[in-house]
Amino acid sequence: MQIGAEFTAVHDFLGDTDLLLELLVGVGVVRIDHAGRILQIHFFIHIPQTDQIFIVVVGNVGTMLVGSTTQHGVSQIISMGIYFPAGINKGMKVYGVYRGYNGLLNGDVEEMNLRSVSDIIGNGGTMLYTARSEEYATPAGIQRAADFCRSIGVSGVVVIGGDGSFRGARCLTNAGINCIGVPGTIDNDIACSEYTVGFDTAMNTAIQMVDRIRDTAQSHDRCSVVEVMGRRCGDIALQTGIATGATAILVPEVQYNIERDVIARIINTQKTGKKHFIVVVAEGVGGVRDLAKYVEQRLGIEARATVLGHVQRGGSPTLRDRVVASQMGFKAVELLEQNIGNRVVAMQGGKIIDLDINEALDMPRVFDEELYKIAMTISI
Ligand code: F6P
Repeated sequence: MQIGAEFTAVHDFLGDTDLLLELLVGVGVVRIDHAGRILQIHFFIHIPQTDQIFIVVVGNVGTMLVGSTTQHGVSQIISMGIYFPAGINKGMKVYGVYRGYNGLLNGDVEEMNLRSVSDIIGNGGTMLYTARSEEYATPAGIQRAADFCRSIGVSGVVVIGGDGSFRGARCLTNAGINCIGVPGTIDNDIACSEYTVGFDTAMNTAIQMVDRIRDTAQSHDRCSVVEVMGRRCGDIALQTGIATGATAILVPEVQYNIERDVIARIINTQKTGKKHFIVVVAEGVGGVRDLAKYVEQRLGIEARATVLGHVQRGGSPTLRDRVVASQMGFKAVELLEQNIGNRVVAMQGGKIIDLDINEALDMPRVFDEELYKIAMTISI
């Protein structure tokens, strides 16, 4: 064990060995890794003038790297804003990795300081950029990425993204670099977590857009068929549909029948005197133009289709996203600080927890049937 080295570090920290011996009361927790290297020593020191006892944490608690492998820009930047200060405040050296795993292959990383993330808390997008990497997805690529981390002394990596990013994180951990996954995607499609950073911002944009579309639908007595994002997940559609009073909501998780789930619902609503209608369709269902045409032909009401698209992935993050990103970022730093890897940070029962990456990746995603039933009952 390199205890001598750590005492030198204490000396550097306090500046004077004699003074150190006078102040030193005892050694508390000593963190040691599997190879027997001391990572951290907690010293108790006594300040006679004030009769206070302080805990001084000394040692290289690690060098942390933060990267975003997700292609969705919304909100992960907030996590960065938190990771950097959290990591640096805990004595870590923190690098930002540009363009996801590509950054590890191309050495495209930059050391961050507390001011690197100044004034980005309200921004969308990601200052670290993001990209897919085909090379990383090969054994040679993973090895090269791990070697690069070692070459600059990186002991832990925070990966923000979805399942694909987490698989990459598992490979890197297996190659000897601790990784922590943090769920960042507007789709809310990560099975182990009831919330993913970006979801709330995307939905708040979606409801604003649908509210505007409703103005036209109402003025012209039309039906507006609106597609929202979510890839294979219907969560954005379900919640946006509820929040905008949609007459019909189609999601990929629930088998639908256009006659029953759209036409009959519009007819029932017409009977109550309503003359304009919103139909929200998840991206995983698609076909909004054909559906609008069908509504026109079948019911004789004017119908228009809108695909909201990428407006949902930008803009200033909402309060919920900023707070959850902060909590998740903090948790990721805590795990790396304890030299723990192969974990995913998640929200369960409203609490931020962490779980094994394999367990997280094996979980089946559960659609909120209860909420869907509520939507079907109240949207009339
Ligand atoms: O995963 C987020 C997401 O916005 C999905 O909702 C959508 O299917 C996909 O990304 C779009 O990706 P791209 O911008 O590459 O077309």
